[in-house]
Amino acid sequence: MIGKKLSLVKLMLMLTLMIMVLEFGMGKLHRVGNKFGWNPNVNYSEWSTHEQFYVGDWLLFNFDRHYFNVLEVNKTSYDNCNDQGFIQNITRGGRDVIELTEARPYYFLSSGGYCFNGMKVVVNVEIPQAPAAAPAKNGSPGPWNAGTYIVLLILISISVAYLIF
Ligand SMILES: *[C@@H]1O[C@H](CO)[C@@H](O)[C@H](O)[C@H]1NC(C)=O
Ligand SMILES: *[C@@H]1O[C@H](CO)[C@@H](O)[C@H](O)[C@H]1NC(C)=O
Ligand SMILES: *[C@@H]1O[C@H](CO)[C@@H](O)[C@H](O)[C@H]1NC(C)=O
Repeated sequence: MIGKKLSLVKLMLMLTLMIMVLEFGMGKLHRVGNKFGWNPNVNYSEWSTHEQFYVGDWLLFNFDRHYFNVLEVNKTSYDNCNDQGFIQNITRGGRDVIELTEARPYYFLSSGGYCFNGMKVVVNVEIPQAPAAAPAKNGSPGPWNAGTYIVLLILISISVAYLIF
């Protein structure tokens, strides 16, 4: 009886920890262009100014791979829409992700001339702040803010202490 109760508590603890790891460890997924996806004639400066990018976040590019692609380039190439000598080819199947692993600007464009039709984007990646001081990310509304996690963390600590001692 007591054993069963304990394993239920353990299961709940594991689930809570998993949710925390998902929220803090994986970072946010940013859909480039939101509903417009990665297409010509979308203002991606407009899109990126409304997002905040942190190390560990991901970008998702949604596009028709028969026409478009996603190449990471340097600033000069971004400014000039130069698709030669790119840094990295992100293109796979047309629903492609890249993890933003460093705090720096990342420059992307589509080759085939589409860069001249606006298919270029720069994202400025910052170092995440401490959870308690972090501004509310626009992807996690409602009660799932830093305060909730601190309360959860305290509850978990108490439960773990209860289980161990
Ligand atoms: C895109 O939006 C930015 C910011 O709102 C604006 O400054 C810029 O002129 C726009 N670019 C185009 C090509 O419309
Ligand atoms: C940017 O990349 C282009 C193409 O590979 C290269 O010619 C140029 O020297 C690079 N610029 C800088 C500042 O690294
Ligand atoms: C980028 O990678 C995709 C998929 O591997 C490939 O089909 C495409 O030719 C590559 N593009 C460039 C410009 O290298």
